[in-house]
Amino acid sequence: MRAFATAHPNIALIKYWGKRDTAKNLPAVDSLSLTLGDLWTNMNVHFSSSYDRDRLEINNVINDQNISRVSKCLDSIVGKSRSFANIVSECNFPISAGLASSSSSFSALVVAVNGAIGRKYDTQLLASQAGSASGSAARSMLGGIVELKNTQTDIQIRQLSSIERWPLRVVIAITSKEKKSISSSKAMRLSANSSPFYSAWINNQEADMSEGRLAIENRDFERLATVSEHNCLKMHSVMWTTRPSVIYWNEASLNCMHAIREMQRSGESVFFTMDAGPQIKAICLPENEAKITQRLSEIKGVVSVMQSKLGGAPISRIPK
Ligand code: DP6
Repeated sequence: MRAFATAHPNIALIKYWGKRDTAKNLPAVDSLSLTLGDLWTNMNVHFSSSYDRDRLEINNVINDQNISRVSKCLDSIVGKSRSFANIVSECNFPISAGLASSSSSFSALVVAVNGAIGRKYDTQLLASQAGSASGSAARSMLGGIVELKNTQTDIQIRQLSSIERWPLRVVIAITSKEKKSISSSKAMRLSANSSPFYSAWINNQEADMSEGRLAIENRDFERLATVSEHNCLKMHSVMWTTRPSVIYWNEASLNCMHAIREMQRSGESVFFTMDAGPQIKAICLPENEAKITQRLSEIKGVVSVMQSKLGGAPISRIPK
């Protein structure tokens, strides 16, 4: 019972923040994302009756912090009477720093586990399993531009655009490699309980989703830029007005935002988004990528800059 999978993280343009069911980890809102092809997580899963506990290794270091979350995910897929597993994961970007590492990790994990137990590849089932481990991970089950919609009792994902149809690029300005100060799950719970903006956030999401969908349908960059920045700042406003406040930004994040606004004024096709961490993601057209990379790397406080094309669905490999 061994399998291997590679999956990519995704970055939401219309964000998920808040849960409608914490036990099942169902999101309170629909969301829309880009799958990032140049960032990846490789996951090797081996179940054996000779193991006496689950073991997780990330980038050659034993990780005990996340093992209970991983074991819970394995139990929900394989059942509680399963053998223990040895899980070896490798990732080419900073983890737990607001770069959506949980989306690539849990999507890769779920694909590898299903492969190891010989289950047929079923995208919606995999999305649902990945989503119960980490909401954003469900979207990594498809490539290109992806929509996640709530159904009555679960979630459903759909590709809104293939990579070829609209080959957007993402430039990531890393402004800190430190672990985030508070996990998204915990921060979401606090937001739902205390931000006076939380209900407005939930009630306005469908308007942003339909605007985002229309922008993608028409490949209207300006329109996508406007609604994405608005949705991102709205989510951060909910975070900022949470008690105690959740502020993931640092000085360099704000400097990058100003630089992106300046580039927009000079006619570049670019916009920013930010998640549960201080990294800035600049979405642009391929012809603008080099200039944006150069500009962001000059900003004080930017530690490094990564570039990514859009990426595809996870790849699964089962050794003979
Ligand atoms: C800000 O998927 O990390 O990146 O379901 O609790 O694991 P859990 O949350 P997670 O939340 C991601 C939130 C976000 C926005 C987004 O990706 O849509």
